[in-house]
Amino acid sequence: MAERIKVLLTEEEVDRKIKEIGEQISKDYEGKQVHLVCVLKGGSFFMCELAKRITVPVSLDFMSVSSYGSSTKSSGVVKIVKDLDEPLKDKHVIVIEDIVDSGRTLSYLMAMLKDRHPASLRLCTLLDKPDRRVVDVHVDYTGFQIPDEFVVGYGLDYDQKYRNLPYIGLVELD
Ligand code: IMP
Ligand code: MG
Repeated sequence: MAERIKVLLTEEEVDRKIKEIGEQISKDYEGKQVHLVCVLKGGSFFMCELAKRITVPVSLDFMSVSSYGSSTKSSGVVKIVKDLDEPLKDKHVIVIEDIVDSGRTLSYLMAMLKDRHPASLRLCTLLDKPDRRVVDVHVDYTGFQIPDEFVVGYGLDYDQKYRNLPYIGLVELD
């Protein structure tokens, strides 16, 4: 099926917002070190840009969970594909996600990470689709709330494509 991409949030808008979140995190964690946990693959572009804007010491780790196949609807099944390399104990952890949609992935993940006894645990997402929420998730830092439409770019994919777009686009199917 052919698809077209329409710009929803420009590169400038996204970059400006990431800078703001970076400044907020730097303020909130003054005197501490933050440990960013990137949820692959979607969170990777956001995490790299955000990490550059944080002025307190930063360490990074990565994990991969799967809840989506090539369709555009959540299956509700969350599987850990790649776990973290480092323990979270006593670290100030911020989970970095591309988007919170139904909330299923994050609610599962946050509960699992909390059991590893971090000093603190927060969630930061570039995008949030509140209208789609099925499971309640507390989000500490949100870039943009967006309507219930399928988006790509800045790490987000449609069938593994478009992650490399430097802006957020809407997918329009023919
Ligand atoms: P949730 O478990 O329904 O909240 O889904 C979370 C995951 O679904 C995200 O981390 C994304 O990988 C994927 N996802 C949800 N909405 C979109 C979208 O609009 N575009 C691309 N991926 C999405
Ligand atoms: Mg994701």
